[in-house]
Amino acid sequence: MPEPTPVALVTGAARRLGAAIAQQLHAAGYAVVLHCRGSRAEADALAARLEARRAGSTLVLQADLAEFDRLPELVAQAVGRFGRLDALVNNAAAFFPTPVATVTPAQWATLMDANLRAPFFLSQAAAPHLAATRGAILNLSDVYARQPRADLVAYATSKGALEAMTRALAAALAPDVRVNALAPGAILWPDEAGDAALQDRILARTALGRTGTVEEIAATALWLLRDATYITGSTVAVDGGRSPL
Ligand SMILES: NC(=O)c1ccc[n+]([C@@H]2O[C@H](COP(=O)([O-])OP(=O)(O)OC[C@H]3O[C@@H](n4cnc5c(N)ncnc54)[C@H](OP(=O)(O)O)[C@@H]3O)[C@@H](O)[C@H]2O)c1
Repeated sequence: MPEPTPVALVTGAARRLGAAIAQQLHAAGYAVVLHCRGSRAEADALAARLEARRAGSTLVLQADLAEFDRLPELVAQAVGRFGRLDALVNNAAAFFPTPVATVTPAQWATLMDANLRAPFFLSQAAAPHLAATRGAILNLSDVYARQPRADLVAYATSKGALEAMTRALAAALAPDVRVNALAPGAILWPDEAGDAALQDRILARTALGRTGTVEEIAATALWLLRDATYITGSTVAVDGGRSPL
């Protein structure tokens, strides 16, 4: 009997880090479920590139992860298409500054819904399927969870809670499902025009003196999901040796 094809569901997979992780998993033999919200055209284009390499190896699903009811549906559609689930990558996230004096409950909810609530309820829905395959969950955290930046209080809180959730779920789902987090440092600057002085300060506080690459993130993601069979509840920093700003 040939080995069954492992299946990964990657949220926010159309672009940037999520797309790199999905491509790395696909190159390693996974069928990939590419979740997107607004970036449908990019997700479809990525799926077409991957399909050209291996027909029948992708599924694109579109959903706003703030819509609570869509979360179990995403997992069900992935399992419905491929019959199993081996990896859940909670990559999609909202990121914007929230100065303490002005952050609103709506901004707070946007960050927590995408960065914390969705990863939890996707994990809840995925857990029985992952248990059946001895699979794994990977949560994308951030160096700012442990080294917060003053203007990112709500975002840093969401990622800090995501790391706590990673440890809690690792205990709750053991021994069948491993749950880890990956905390990138500066990999890709936000799309919108950035603060060049801030970016220089970030690199000055980075021991390796450069941004990381999406390939460095994707390689670590694959390692945590597939190869790190005695690691659960851990957060691996891929941040070039960052110290607080
Ligand atoms: N970039 C970095 O250097 C860096 C550094 C530290 C940590 N991280 C973490 O690594 C992960 C990936 O980073 P990134 O920079 O590639 O992320 P990103 O471009 O900011 O966002 C990734 C995707 O998340 C999706 N998304 C956001 N809110 C959503 C919602 N409510 N429902 C559904 N999808 C939603 C968007 O999908 P659509 O485009 O389809 O709408 C977006 O393309 C994130 O968790 C981020 O916090 C990144």
